Amino acid sequence: MTETVHVPLGDRAYDVHVGQGLMGQAGMLIQPFLRRPKVFVVTERRVAGLHLDRLRDGLGKIDAPALLLEPGEAIKGWAGLTQTVEWLLDQKCERGDIVIALGGGVIGDLVGFAAAILRRGVRFVQVPTSLLAQVDSSVGGKTAINTRHGKNLVGAFHQPVLVLADVDVLDTLTPRDFRAGYGEVVKYGLLGDAEFFVWLEENAVRLSDDPVLRTQAVRHSVQMKADIVERDETEQGDRALLNLGHTFCHALEAATGYSDRLLHGEGVAIGCALAFELSSRLGLCSQEDPSRVRAHLQAMGMSRDLSDIPGDLPSAEALLGLMGQDKKVVDGTLRFILARGIGEAFVTADVPAGEVLGVLRASA
Ligand code: GLY
Repeated sequence: MTETVHVPLGDRAYDVHVGQGLMGQAGMLIQPFLRRPKVFVVTERRVAGLHLDRLRDGLGKIDAPALLLEPGEAIKGWAGLTQTVEWLLDQKCERGDIVIALGGGVIGDLVGFAAAILRRGVRFVQVPTSLLAQVDSSVGGKTAINTRHGKNLVGAFHQPVLVLADVDVLDTLTPRDFRAGYGEVVKYGLLGDAEFFVWLEENAVRLSDDPVLRTQAVRHSVQMKADIVERDETEQGDRALLNLGHTFCHALEAATGYSDRLLHGEGVAIGCALAFELSSRLGLCSQEDPSRVRAHLQAMGMSRDLSDIPGDLPSAEALLGLMGQDKKVVDGTLRFILARGIGEAFVTADVPAGEVLGVLRASA
């Protein structure tokens, strides 16, 4: 089963194909974008070992030289960008060529940014290999690298021309990586679709084993993202809703040194639980809502609290300070995504610091 979500952005519109066996169809799906039978694949060693042969088989007669970067977040910086851009130039990648980003969110963000700046912009195709990348980072055109000042601080909006989300590749994820990616799936139900949250409550435990359910969950998530990106491509308003749970998450990631102690999607799940706690404390949603969010995360075997993160964390005050570094700070005011109920998120700057500290202390 393959489903297609169209991202309607005028002359930057594109399709996201979601389903099984899409790697095997890569040649047929990418061919219409090619000016010559050649693409340039940028991936990382671990992903290459698992999926590069399958992608090349799917590309058939299309020549596909590949750059194998080091796995891990550290590659998503100036050095990794230089390596990628210089390799593409060494390979004589032309203005009209297509670059393929094969990998998770790190590769998608880095390669997308390299494509955005190479020869003032070449087209690229996302072939996301993690659940997180399939439901979030491969769609919507945010590309970036990290600097010593923080994550994703240098980047560009550069939409892909095609996204191939082959749900078969998710079979190779570790259970922890799958659960972390699920943090971004559940986010969609919580931010804007109570019915989807109910569907997840009923079906999500079977997602890791059932490719048909997986296709439905990825397709629905991508559709929700496409709808939001269509309304607000460059995050002047509604797109910030996609950051539900992320203000807490970014502080926790910084506090844990962006290490294996906390994966991004795990931080998003904790952040969503805390955003609902905060909303309930502020009288915005019922007390049952945070309990329901927690119950579902628990059923999925996911972290819900600061106390679920191994090792010591800074004080609540220090975490609040780290939130002040978030990109969502405008004129020095911290903006939160809160909720009036499940599926009813909104953006606000009107959050007393004392309540945030209370939520952090209760969760620690
Ligand atoms: N990952 C959030 C966004 O794409 O806006």
